[in-house]
Amino acid sequence: MPERSIKIAPSILSADFANFGQEIRAVEAQGADWIHVDVMDGHFVPNLTFGPPLVKAIRPHISTVMDVHLMIAPVDPYIDAFAEAGSDIITAHLEAGPHIHRTLQAIRAAGCKAGLALNPGTGLADMAYLLDMVDLVCVMAVNPGFGGQKFIHSQVDKVRRLREMIGDRPIQIEIDGGITPDTAPLMAAAGADVLVAGSAVFKGGSVADPAPYGENIRRIREAADAAL
Ligand code: DX5
Ligand code: ZN
Repeated sequence: MPERSIKIAPSILSADFANFGQEIRAVEAQGADWIHVDVMDGHFVPNLTFGPPLVKAIRPHISTVMDVHLMIAPVDPYIDAFAEAGSDIITAHLEAGPHIHRTLQAIRAAGCKAGLALNPGTGLADMAYLLDMVDLVCVMAVNPGFGGQKFIHSQVDKVRRLREMIGDRPIQIEIDGGITPDTAPLMAAAGADVLVAGSAVFKGGSVADPAPYGENIRRIREAADAAL
């Protein structure tokens, strides 16, 4: 067993939207470590998903960790609603507004772990004064907005440099977008702790036939662990 173990966080963006509760229970039974919930506003990203009422409705179906990724701007007016919906982690984008420092403070004040997400085009320099206020950094390996996009390889080097910047701080590095058994080992070797995967987890399975979810998770996990 490797010393560090990689967590797999299926994104329900690739689940059956008419069956979130069953999909979540199925994917957890098949080995998911966290459930990743993608909130999109049609403004910060060119796609719309759902808001706090749906997040609250799925909460009782999650027995692991509810990892809420906000692709919205502004963020601050909605933090309390997502915290009250039962989020364990709330991740906001560095690019979502001029006051990300305040946003991260507000997430922790609401009782949640604070995540900071970076778009592929965003560098690490602006994070220097934020590192002591985050529990997780989410490196996007696709431009946010859609599942099933192609992995952007330049982000592997970003993760390597981020790992160095973090040093011994208790911050988890999460990778979101384009994760497959081929790309997972690159990010694991570079320093990732948590791999979000949507299309690569849900493909081939369904609530009626969830075994492929387990096989897909196992293949990503094995490829990642082998690179540690
Ligand atoms: C993209 C979302 C991701 C997405 C990943 O904007 O933040 O979480 O669901 O999907 P895949 O794994 O298919 O790239
Ligand atoms: Zn996401």
